[in-house]
Amino acid sequence: PVLILLGPPGAGKGTQARRLEERHGLVQLSTGDMLRAAVAAGTEAGRAAKAVMEVGGLVSDEIVLDILADRLTEADVQEGVILDGFPRTTVQAEALDVMLAEHGERVTGAISMDVDDAAMVSRIAGRFTCGACGEGYHDSFKPTVVEGVCDACGGTEMKRRADDKAETVAARLEAYHAQTAPLIDYYAERRLLDRVDAMGEIDAVTAALSAKVERMR
Ligand code: AP5
Ligand code: ZN
Repeated sequence: PVLILLGPPGAGKGTQARRLEERHGLVQLSTGDMLRAAVAAGTEAGRAAKAVMEVGGLVSDEIVLDILADRLTEADVQEGVILDGFPRTTVQAEALDVMLAEHGERVTGAISMDVDDAAMVSRIAGRFTCGACGEGYHDSFKPTVVEGVCDACGGTEMKRRADDKAETVAARLEAYHAQTAPLIDYYAERRLLDRVDAMGEIDAVTAALSAKVERMR
């Protein structure tokens, strides 16, 4: 299956995709993670992406599609994927349909994670992740049991994202509403859309998503 998680920054796409990956044998593909890796590696695409990501805009469709197309051909993703943060524009959604059709496949379903915008700023502002295993945390909503030590792997190097400042978050929310929210209609028109209330506790959202993923596959 090819599943899409749609939602604004802070909706919990990354948090939930990691959980669904384990439960349903799918591979999480986050274009945000891929772009951050390209930035860290200092590739040409990474240098172009960095400037845009720093101000909370969307990276060009060309760069994103290049990175994703490469990843989709790798062996580990053939059983099924959960797309987190992609597609983000109508151009990307159409390109995904074409890419999948070339392999006789199609989008299985898209789930919109519905949240209250105002709450997203505080969710993002408190966020940090384990540098060793990538487990996500939040200062107030999901702290580590022992301060500074990852519950999952015992790692002690915690990271915060460069684009998680309040001003940048506002720009990211704006980009979501202008360019990504129209995809809710794109998938609804194709009868591929489902929605979950993503304002509840993390476990409750996982349960709601899991039930839908089970039905879709
Ligand atoms: P990307 O990395 O995709 O970031 P994003 O969409 O802004 O989403 P986030 O990662 O901020 O949020 P999330 O929904 O994953 O929430 P999370 O689970 O972390 O993109 C970054 C940038 O890359 C973009 O701005 C753009 O420039 C570029 N980019 C990426 N893809 C692109 C594309 N396809 N095209 C063009 N440009 C692209 O949760 C947030 C926090 O809340 C965490 O701390 C978590 O612990 C906590 N939390 C989660 N769920 C709950 C809950 N239910 N209750 C309380 N707290 C919760
Ligand atoms: Zn860890």
